[in-house]
Amino acid sequence: MKARLKELEANAISELESVTDIKSLDPWRVYYLGKNGSLTQILRSLKNLSPDERKSVGAQANKLKLLLQSELQRKKDFLKENELSRAFEKKDLDISLPGRAFPAGRTHPITQSLREICHIFSTMGFGVVEGPEVELDYYNFEALNIPPDHPARDMFDTLWLDSSVDGDSNPMLLRTHTSPMQIRIMENSPPPIRVIVPGKVYRYEASDATHESMFTQVEGLAVGEGITLANLKGTLFEFASRLFGAERKMRFRCDYFPFVEPGVEMSIECLACGGNGCKLCSNSGWLEILGAGMVHPDVLKRVGYDPQIYSGFAFGLGVERIPMLKYGVEDIRLFYENDTRFLKQF
Ligand code: PHE
Repeated sequence: MKARLKELEANAISELESVTDIKSLDPWRVYYLGKNGSLTQILRSLKNLSPDERKSVGAQANKLKLLLQSELQRKKDFLKENELSRAFEKKDLDISLPGRAFPAGRTHPITQSLREICHIFSTMGFGVVEGPEVELDYYNFEALNIPPDHPARDMFDTLWLDSSVDGDSNPMLLRTHTSPMQIRIMENSPPPIRVIVPGKVYRYEASDATHESMFTQVEGLAVGEGITLANLKGTLFEFASRLFGAERKMRFRCDYFPFVEPGVEMSIECLACGGNGCKLCSNSGWLEILGAGMVHPDVLKRVGYDPQIYSGFAFGLGVERIPMLKYGVEDIRLFYENDTRFLKQF
């Protein structure tokens, strides 16, 4: 038995020696160390030996097993190393080539604008909060002085949801603006308040170069004692001069929103023509960028604020418009088509 083991060892080692490629190592391993390999068979037959013999032959056989395993590993490492250096020599592998760069991700242009806007307002002391995109009729309309059948509902083509929380008395919809958050915020905290609300809004309308059924707004709300229209104007002019440059002309004009009194729209001097009149500004020289106003006393009353003590301003800004104006993007739909050739430019 011991002699058989010796012979096995000699054969195995010399055969291993003559192996020259990694692939041929496997048959060798199966032949000697495999489940039905020669060494395994010897180990299995140990049970037929006398206890004394079993002990010494067993020890020898186990030693041989370890030896063959480690020799196999050594040979494997050796062949691998060899293959590599051969590849270097044959120039199959050029280790001097630079690595392949992974394309880095980037933020979407709307996200970039949104962050810039939020940054400007937060340096002016505004907190940032977000709200639900699925909203109740109450917050989107009613509490904002837009009861059912109010003609102002025509300003907001609404996407209604089939389900509603308590029958049809409180229908649900996709918010048409971020203004419902004015109510939610005031319901939940006492004045003073100074926040902005960035978020997606939805309108049921055909999309074209300047309209999308989903777009982004930033709502602003400041309520406290003694807040006036002058504070609104100062805040928004400061904001716009940081975003568009201090030399850019700005103006306020009367506008109407049911939840503010007085209501205004703010425009900036056209970025394309500098105020002379062009296609972009429909020859007016001005571009409207947001709607705003003083929070209506009835809105304040509805959330339990005393309009004799508190006043406030609110504004709502369309985000897509800003990179469109800044970079001359002529079609709003480009932002949501996910064409990386477009997105990569920002
Ligand atoms: N929510 C209005 C809109 O979407 C904008 C607005 C907000 C106007 C706040 C006044 C005050 O058109």
